[in-house]
Amino acid sequence: MKIKKIAVLTSGGDSPGMNTALRAVVRTCSYNNIQCAGVYRGFQGLINDEIKTLNTRSVRGIINRGGTMLYSARSEEFKSKDGRKKAYENVKKHNIDAIVVIGGDGSFTGSLIFEKEFKIPIIGIPGTIDNDLFGTSHTLGYDTALNTVMEAIDKIRDTAISHDRLFFVEVMGRDAGHIALNSGIAIGAQEILIPELKIGIDELVISLKKSKKAGKSSSIVVVAEGDDTGKNVFELSKRVEEKFPDYEIKVSVLGHMQRGGSPTCFDRVLGTRMGVTAVETLINGQSSKMIGFKEGKIVLTPLTAAIKGNSKINPELIRVAEIMNV
Ligand code: F6P
Repeated sequence: MKIKKIAVLTSGGDSPGMNTALRAVVRTCSYNNIQCAGVYRGFQGLINDEIKTLNTRSVRGIINRGGTMLYSARSEEFKSKDGRKKAYENVKKHNIDAIVVIGGDGSFTGSLIFEKEFKIPIIGIPGTIDNDLFGTSHTLGYDTALNTVMEAIDKIRDTAISHDRLFFVEVMGRDAGHIALNSGIAIGAQEILIPELKIGIDELVISLKKSKKAGKSSSIVVVAEGDDTGKNVFELSKRVEEKFPDYEIKVSVLGHMQRGGSPTCFDRVLGTRMGVTAVETLINGQSSKMIGFKEGKIVLTPLTAAIKGNSKINPELIRVAEIMNV
């Protein structure tokens, strides 16, 4: 089937670079004389018929903007068959031949069900800061989030040093420790707590005592949101304080600021390459694939594989972090 019209939407938690990828999708459509429709507010917008034609001018001035011009949502209604049926009626109404979904794990899971039910070709672009998808070394927005986290913790370090304090800094990563591990190395954390590696309170306290003995007067522990060493980072800090009262402990939760901001050069180039390949892949008659990035190249992975295995933590990074704690 010759593709005449492609719809594009952003779904789930937003990430810097979504706009960049959207711009690339729209312009690649235009380059290939394909119509492009923007769906606002993710799959919920597909259900509610929030669909507008996009042309090259509609996406001007957004390459450097964080967030998503199309808005994003997590749609409960799309989880039901009735919701998806409504969405498909709008697909037919607008003569949409294929869809590019920019989102993460949950969005791709919904995409696969929708594709199977209504035979509508879908290609995924991994837009999430968590880097938790298989088939790509970098998800779109991850690099920007890492730099945001690094800059924020550098600032926390300034005040930690002035006051001889120990800081627990919680970073995002519901299921994965990529942000914590990489930013932790970049800011010289004393310890990095991630869901993939169970350190435990006792070992953490031993490490902190050792560093204090070695002359360190302040420290940073980076904690991934999904780590379960404590019930949460506040409870964790209390438990450490009980076992190790030598430090005044403070907690800082970086939160949603990690998802905002202008995308880095890396994410802008990545988003552009992914957007171009997404449209070209549909033109070539393929579907059900996620566009990934590996060893400098753009690669395709079946969507089913992308969501099944979380991208694994690189053990070399854990080793490097350990050596730095000498
Ligand atoms: O974008 C992914 C993520 O940042 C997770 O790490 C986090 O748990 C989640 O989004 C929180 O998003 P929200 O508050 O939008 O549900």
